[in-house]
Amino acid sequence: MALVTGATQGIGAAVARRFRGEGARLVLVARRPEPGRRMVEELGRENASFVAGDVAVEETAARAVAEALSAFGGLDVLVNNAALDFARAIEETGLEEARRVLDVNFLGAFLMLREAGRVMRRAGRGSVINVVSRFALVGGAEMGIYSAAKGALLSLTRSAAIEWAPSGVRVNAVAPGPTDTPLIRAWIDEQPDPAAFRARLHASVPLGRIAEPDDVAAAILYLASDESRQVTGACISVDGGFTAA
Ligand SMILES: NC(=O)c1ccc[n+]([C@@H]2O[C@H](COP(=O)([O-])OP(=O)(O)OC[C@H]3O[C@@H](n4cnc5c(N)ncnc54)[C@H](OP(=O)(O)O)[C@@H]3O)[C@@H](O)[C@H]2O)c1
Repeated sequence: MALVTGATQGIGAAVARRFRGEGARLVLVARRPEPGRRMVEELGRENASFVAGDVAVEETAARAVAEALSAFGGLDVLVNNAALDFARAIEETGLEEARRVLDVNFLGAFLMLREAGRVMRRAGRGSVINVVSRFALVGGAEMGIYSAAKGALLSLTRSAAIEWAPSGVRVNAVAPGPTDTPLIRAWIDEQPDPAAFRARLHASVPLGRIAEPDDVAAAILYLASDESRQVTGACISVDGGFTAA
């Protein structure tokens, strides 16, 4: 039984499909109900349930975990994937914007992890995967607040891994590089010459292409499965070599 946030498009939807392909049952979380309803239809109502909510709101985590317990009787895996993209020069970043990025991208994941951890630790098993970013590992111009939030989530990953290791709960991170999702397509479309920008983006990756959402989902599946039973507090980069350079 897996809970996936931001599961209605992009990487989260790829995770939901891949997990379902392995037989998992799922609780999906996102704000907009209509894409959530469509994902549940696609995955099958007996296999998936949708909870509409903003991860930055404290009660969303409680509702999502309660749904996992009442609909499917347990919670084995949490994928903290929901986040908003934010690129802005530091001196142009307002306090409210900065708070929103930290609320969604860091504290939203913290609230989910805290709530899921209570259930997993009682059960004596579980796996949490936090989706961070290459910008948790390196800096970038105009990435100040986004990278701070993702770096904080990576730090939380490591401390939670240590704190919960005695309870049998593993906590890891996956750090994607540029990945072809609606988030990045919107960013590309904002550029003066989107086609040239997309080509430069592909060329900036040592492997020569940006990731597909399923490339990231494959690493997340590994960390969710018992294949990774000796892995906790780790961060797997799925960035085509970007942060190796
Ligand atoms: N794409 C990339 O190049 C890239 C690179 C590095 C890291 N990442 C990370 O990978 C993850 C997924 O990215 P993506 O590109 O797949 O994103 P995406 O296409 O923008 O999808 C985001 C998903 O999260 C949901 N969501 C957004 N804000 C939410 C909130 N406050 N509460 C609940 N759900 C929320 C969205 O649904 P609603 O809008 O309906 O809520 C949607 O389902 C994120 O953590 C992102 O930071 C992505």
